[in-house]
Amino acid sequence: MNDVTLSINGKAVSAATEPRVTLLDYLRDVAGLKGTHAGCEHGVCGACTVLVDGDPVRSCLMLAVQAEGVDITTIEGIGGLGARAGELGIIQDAFCEAHGLQCGYCTPGMILAAEALLSVNAAPSEHDVREAISGNICRCTGYVQIVEAIMLAAKRLRQRNDTSAPDLTPA
Ligand code: FES
Ligand code: FES
Repeated sequence: MNDVTLSINGKAVSAATEPRVTLLDYLRDVAGLKGTHAGCEHGVCGACTVLVDGDPVRSCLMLAVQAEGVDITTIEGIGGLGARAGELGIIQDAFCEAHGLQCGYCTPGMILAAEALLSVNAAPSEHDVREAISGNICRCTGYVQIVEAIMLAAKRLRQRNDTSAPDLTPA
C-alpha cells in the first residue's frame, strides 16, 4: 500500500491505501465523510456524486489514487455557498423548503449536481435542471419537488448576487 493524499473540502487527507480502493470508499471509510452515499456502486444511481474540480463525478467509478491532485467537494463541504459556518447553504435550504427530499438517500448527490449546474448557469430552465440531475435517481419524490427546489435555489442565488434586490436569504 502507498500513501494516497487527497484534497477534500479544502483539507488534505492522507492514508496508506490499496490501489483498488474507490474514491467513494476512501471518502466514507478513510475520511469519515458519510454524506457521500453508496447506492448501486456501479455508476447507475448517482448517490455517490461528488465534485471533482467543480464537475459532478460518480465516486464509485473513480479510484482514490486517480483523485490525487484534484479538488474534491463533498456534501459536507458545500455549506459555504451562501451559508455561515454550521448553517445550510442556499441550495440545501431550498431543498428543505420545497420538500425536495423524503428519505434523503439521493439528496447529497442531487445537491452537488445542482451546485455544479448553478455554478455555471445562474438562470437555468426547468429543462436544464432536469438534464443536470438526469444521472441521479430518486426513488421517493417523483423529481417534481427536486426541480422546484433547484429553481428556487437559482432564484435566491440570483437575488443574493443582485445588490439592487432585497436580501431574501434566511436570517
Ligand atoms: S453508488 Fe455510484 S452511481 Fe450508484
Ligand atoms: S428522497 Fe429518497 S431516494 Fe430521493
